[in-house]
Amino acid sequence: MSILCCEALTKEYQSGETKVLAIDNISTAFERGEFCAITGASGSGKSTLIHMLGGLEYPTAGQVFYQQEDLFNYSDDQLSVLRRRRFGFVFQAYNLVQELTALENMLLPVMLDKQKPDDGYLKEIIDVLGIEDRLSHLPSALSGGEQQRVAIARALSNKPAIVFADEPTGNLDAHSGREVLSLLKYVSTELGVTLILVTHDLNIAEQAERIIQLEDGRITRDSKEAIGG
Ligand SMILES: Nc1ncnc2c1ncn2[C@@H]1O[C@H](COP(=O)(O)OP(=O)(O)O)[C@@H](O)[C@H]1O
Ligand SMILES: [Mg+2]
Repeated sequence: MSILCCEALTKEYQSGETKVLAIDNISTAFERGEFCAITGASGSGKSTLIHMLGGLEYPTAGQVFYQQEDLFNYSDDQLSVLRRRRFGFVFQAYNLVQELTALENMLLPVMLDKQKPDDGYLKEIIDVLGIEDRLSHLPSALSGGEQQRVAIARALSNKPAIVFADEPTGNLDAHSGREVLSLLKYVSTELGVTLILVTHDLNIAEQAERIIQLEDGRITRDSKEAIGG
């Protein structure tokens, strides 16, 4: 049974007089533990799709089901609780809170949820991501690669079922980008987390188990379908 799926998902933006069909009637499903890359040219709808799959943006039509529950049937409050507990997000621009240390940023989802942190688990993430000697630093004192590793730690701190990453290596040089990607891949595999990653970079997409190609808001290729016949 798939962990996440969408049915006839559609998003239309109105900008002035013109309408833009950013996502055009997409139906697909993601299995638990899968690593799927969504790729396509700039403007093909990658961010719009991943934002709707993660419940960050409402569709114009269609549904997203997380474990058979329609995300957009939840109230705003229920949806934000679900996002905080079950989903993790990593963005191109890191989106760390500049006034908080690396550790405080990492713990933010746990604190917002008023939960007791699982210290053993958090220590494991810190070790794997190699940020133990950066925890008391503010984001401004960290390199891009370090900031992104803290953002990954934050995304994982609540033991999410799914991590959504939108161009997580987009601001990094090639070396840090490869490092961040392999860490993301490693922790997802180790923790059994489903990873849905958006990238316009084919070298990165090719490291995923499955590649979905978008063009003008439609799926033009899905490596899973191709293998399935
Ligand atoms: N908030 C918005 N208002 C109007 N048009 C938008 C908005 N966000 C995205 N679009 C348009 O939707 C299409 C898909 O955008 P996006 O999902 O950001 O693509 P990608 O992430 O693949 O670059 C583009 O034509 C873009 O200009
Ligand atoms: Mg984008």
